[in-house]
Amino acid sequence: MKRYSKITPQGSRDYLFEECDDRRRVEHELSVLFKENNYRKVITPAIEYFDVFKSDNVGIESEMMFKMSDSKGRTTVLRPDNTMPIARMVATRLHDEELPVRLYYSQPVFVRAKDLAGRPSEIAQSGVELIGDGSFDADIEIVKMAVESLKKSNLNSFKLELGNAAFFNVVLGKMNISPNDRADVVNYIESKNYAALGDLLDKIGDTAETRVIRRLPRLFGDASVIDEAKKLYSDSAFQQALLYLQTVYNRLCDEGLKDYIILDLGLVNRSNYYTGIIFHGYAEGSGISVLSGGRYDNLLGEFGMPAPAIGFAVEVTALCEAMHEVINVERPIRIALTKGRLERKTVELFKTMGLDTKELENKGRRLILPVDKYETVLSKAPDVITYVEHGVCDIGIVGKDTIVEHGSSFYEVIDLNIGKCKFALACPKGTDFFSGYKRKTVASKYPKVAKEFFESKGMDVEVIKIEGSVELAPLLGLADGIIDIVETGSTLKENGLEVVEDIFPISARVIVNMASMKLRKAEIEEFLNDLELASRV
Ligand code: PRP
Repeated sequence: MKRYSKITPQGSRDYLFEECDDRRRVEHELSVLFKENNYRKVITPAIEYFDVFKSDNVGIESEMMFKMSDSKGRTTVLRPDNTMPIARMVATRLHDEELPVRLYYSQPVFVRAKDLAGRPSEIAQSGVELIGDGSFDADIEIVKMAVESLKKSNLNSFKLELGNAAFFNVVLGKMNISPNDRADVVNYIESKNYAALGDLLDKIGDTAETRVIRRLPRLFGDASVIDEAKKLYSDSAFQQALLYLQTVYNRLCDEGLKDYIILDLGLVNRSNYYTGIIFHGYAEGSGISVLSGGRYDNLLGEFGMPAPAIGFAVEVTALCEAMHEVINVERPIRIALTKGRLERKTVELFKTMGLDTKELENKGRRLILPVDKYETVLSKAPDVITYVEHGVCDIGIVGKDTIVEHGSSFYEVIDLNIGKCKFALACPKGTDFFSGYKRKTVASKYPKVAKEFFESKGMDVEVIKIEGSVELAPLLGLADGIIDIVETGSTLKENGLEVVEDIFPISARVIVNMASMKLRKAEIEEFLNDLELASRV
């Protein structure tokens, strides 16, 4: 039987009629813009060798790529990125051309989407690469074109956030920290996870560098953030990077682009890919960024032709969705709350903030409730994350357990210090989980947490997903132990189980959609400030 003949694989889909028209129109408008600016079109193959993307500097995890093999068994992939193949092509085919070379493309990339998250795996991109020019003018040319690209795309409103990857490179370079801590710092800054960043910096100790890193992710908005940052750290390379960003910003303002640009000094360079100016575009109607780019002066060197370069890609798929989404910045700020235990504690916090929670407390079976000028949405914990990631809710309140298990792209901004508990490995009392040679089985509602815990120990353990009352699994003989949340410990005790090892502490966090944070900054910050104050009472 041809079981799958009528459906498309997860992450891929058909596009019909007006959807195709939209895509072609956006791609056509962009091509016209790129050509007007003297960029020449290139097409690279959809299938490339894995080695093209095998570098610490790509920022695309190997597991996210669609892998195949050629007739000799060598690993090939569907291109997960457009810049790397273009760098390969320039280094091998265009090395005799006079620099700079201006190129544009309009072709999809293929990146495995998170399971059932409603995101495509095949993503249409149109973009440009300016290779062989490391000048200020090249940066201005590219950022201006990025703004023009979004202007041409029929969006209600959009912002381009602009930063400089050099800040953190300078500060992190002065810190004496392990590669793991460094990776964590970058990760926390990128997700604006102030709580975890604060904890890690406390552990590292109070230095000029930790003070500046603590502050930078909060510095986004208008030109005043640069003045604030100047006072933070006197290092000359840092000051130079700030000055450079300021000069770029001023020039863009002179060109009449002020209303489209916001500065974010917390834009970091997770993969060491970017070396200077870095930017992302956010549009009303899309919860994810619709454009990204920056200067990447080290990439061409990896293909044997060192040359400065800068470019950007418009996420055409996301942009087309943004043009049609009903989400608009006129609606009230929408906050997704986790139903149940956390809901009650959140209501208390809202009361401390002075918000009118009457409707929320007398909700009956309603799921969307006004709380003062805000709109709250009641949902299960993993759905809070889904709604915020997609941007249909701007803010979410959810446990760290759910974030670690289900989360990927949003800002995690406040640790509310409510809903405190921990993840732990527990077993029937008196048994020794770690002894013996037999492969162990563990049941959990959190298979990702469980798998990562055992992977970090180098232990090969079978993890079985259980939806609730996971304590039953060892009692019924299905598993040797469980990985679960422990709050008071009474569920374990009353079922003859005990904690073998604590994994990490959990508490409720506030998460924010990345586009909302940029497009509705003032309203969101007002809410977050009041909430943070209330959580400290
Ligand atoms: C959680 C967790 C434990 C229990 C721990 O379950 O999975 O079973 O709470 O709390 P304690 O340490 O205070 O006893 P939850 O109440 O969410 O129900 P579920 O397992 O059915 O999902």
